[in-house]
Amino acid sequence: MQINQIYNMDCIKGMKKIDDESIDLIVTDPPYLIEYKTNYRKDKKHEFNHTILNDNNPELISKYIKECYRILKPNKAMYMFCNFDNVDFFKKELEKYFKIKNMIVWVKNNWTAGDLEAQFGKQYELIFLVNKGRAKFFGSRVTDVWHFNRIPADKLIHQNQEPLDLIKRCILKHSQVGDLVFDGFMGSGTTAVAAIDEKRNFLGFELDYEKYEKASKRIKESLEFQQLTLF
Ligand SMILES: C[S@@+](CC[C@H](N)C(=O)[O-])C[C@H]1O[C@@H](n2cnc3c(N)ncnc32)[C@H](O)[C@@H]1O
Repeated sequence: MQINQIYNMDCIKGMKKIDDESIDLIVTDPPYLIEYKTNYRKDKKHEFNHTILNDNNPELISKYIKECYRILKPNKAMYMFCNFDNVDFFKKELEKYFKIKNMIVWVKNNWTAGDLEAQFGKQYELIFLVNKGRAKFFGSRVTDVWHFNRIPADKLIHQNQEPLDLIKRCILKHSQVGDLVFDGFMGSGTTAVAAIDEKRNFLGFELDYEKYEKASKRIKESLEFQQLTLF
């Protein structure tokens, strides 16, 4: 499979074409299995008011985690995002293959509405840092509480778009220049753009054609910008 590409296909089908133990780092933000859709936009037909694909498919996540283990090189790391609602499911599935090193708490600058009278606002998401073998981090040791602001709503091109600096931290902590970074759920292409900015290679999949198109455009612009700054 050609690297420095994302493919518009189901990640499980695509991963079958990736060799065993060929990936240096996985940074991935799968569907959280919560049938999430934003509800704050006035335009109810807005694309963000549709749930993302497979947000109700735990079997996909189980298969994905198994494939992630297969394609990752020994003594390498994976970061996998999830949230409060299904953390027990994600942890159980990850533990079948990986060593869980941290459950990082990503503190955001906003919180959910939810049940306003019986539940406090949820202000964090979770990121599992897991190892195949033992993957030493690079640079200084940080704690498991990370503070990164969400992308402002008017700047989002995907309803689950993660902050670029947050993904870059994962990449810098667990890979080196020239390494190959994988994400099977590319969304708007954040993992690929972070990899390009940090001079890593990337590979990934996005099943939703519209999201794939937006991600491809964003990735192309990043590659062009990097070329411009190199010469
Ligand atoms: C949580 S979002 C990722 C957002 C991404 N981190 C970003 O910053 O834009 C998950 C993505 O996985 C995609 N997806 C769902 N099922 C998939 C599958 N089987 N294969 C590939 N992509 C899939 C969805 O369309 C969605 O864009």
